[in-house]
Amino acid sequence: MNGTIMDKDSLLHVLRKHAMHTSCLKFVEGACDVTEVGDGNMNHVFRVAHKQDSTSSVIVKAAPPYIKCLGPDYPLTVHRCTIEYRALQKFHEIIPGYSPQPYLLIYDMSMFVMEDLSEGYVILQAELIRGKLHLAAVRNIAVFMARVHSATGHRSPNSELLTSFSNPDMVSLTEQYIFTRPFLKDDPTNHSSEPIKAILHLVHDDRELQSIVGKFKRLFLEKQESLVHGDLHSGSILVRPTDGGVKVIDAEFAYIGPSALDLGLLLASYVFSYSAHKEKGNDGGDMTFCELLCQAIHLTGETYTAHLTSQENATLHFSQLMPEVAGFAGCELIRRIIGAAHVADVEGCPAAEERALRAGIWLLKNNNTVTSTTAFLRCLQS
Ligand SMILES: Nc1ncnc2c1ncn2[C@@H]1O[C@H](COP(=O)(O)OP(=O)(O)OP(=O)(O)O)[C@@H](O)[C@H]1O
Ligand SMILES: [Mg+2]
Repeated sequence: MNGTIMDKDSLLHVLRKHAMHTSCLKFVEGACDVTEVGDGNMNHVFRVAHKQDSTSSVIVKAAPPYIKCLGPDYPLTVHRCTIEYRALQKFHEIIPGYSPQPYLLIYDMSMFVMEDLSEGYVILQAELIRGKLHLAAVRNIAVFMARVHSATGHRSPNSELLTSFSNPDMVSLTEQYIFTRPFLKDDPTNHSSEPIKAILHLVHDDRELQSIVGKFKRLFLEKQESLVHGDLHSGSILVRPTDGGVKVIDAEFAYIGPSALDLGLLLASYVFSYSAHKEKGNDGGDMTFCELLCQAIHLTGETYTAHLTSQENATLHFSQLMPEVAGFAGCELIRRIIGAAHVADVEGCPAAEERALRAGIWLLKNNNTVTSTTAFLRCLQS
């Protein structure tokens, strides 16, 4: 296995070897354009399109045996590629059309081929930054989560799912970068803006907060509830602005874990956007868009509850899930402000960063009281 293919000719050569047996790749036998489209940190993402007929195209995602943006000194399992391919297959089986169709896993090259969504779809995070959000997209994301969690949820672990989605290296990466390093005062991977440095004590010197984070770290590592996407922030979701169609991508962190993780990361994305739009500009922020984001948080809860199929009492189940959602959202909000990986929504706006950080702290400290989306939204008043 290598997955380190960089040059376009080698990539085409690999694809042509598989073209005969895979109908979606037939077109690569002709002249093709290959462009690296991925702006991600971890992998190479290429678009391969027929020169004359650009509607014949695929996306190839290749996993080098290290973190792409850091280089070979930072090794990372190539198994993430197989996990992502399997997750996309599973998503399609459960709820077709809500993620790119996976076409082919080329195991020995640690790459896979999938449906090209470049036409018509944009990253949700980019839309949120522009102050655009289609409520149909919000609904679709919640339906996707509820259906995947319901279909794979179980009271006792299902051994086949546990084996297919055993993803210890990626789980350990999340454990380190969401639940551990951001909360260590002197961790060298942490960084924050100067105004945030002045209030880091709110996180690093609060023992109660640290112990609550420890509880959510254990929940993340130990609760085997359902297949979760594992990285469901607004950068992992493509939306079609015309009608709010949704395609969930980037499933390399998928594993059997707590359902609340996906909900928590998603709601944290809405909170980042709220923080940015509330603080940016000079006229008290874009309150209409902030109201829309609050509506999105309520709608996520309502839709998720309505589409749960495996719970006898979905409303009760959701209210029991919400404290966990609050805890995971809290960890995500904090780590994106003071940890290694930040979010574009609030970067460069210290007031928005502080608002998001304080919301995260509030969610962790008050997680027990958060049994509804109304209670969740109190984090925005903190
Ligand atoms: N099926 C697809 N169709 C069109 N564009 C896609 C598709 N999959 C990925 N992309 C584009 O490539 C980008 C990177 O993809 P992805 O997030 O899967 O890569 P990654 O390297 O795992 O990123 P990250 O650093 O966020 O983990 C996406 O933001 C999107 O712009
Ligand atoms: Mg990724």
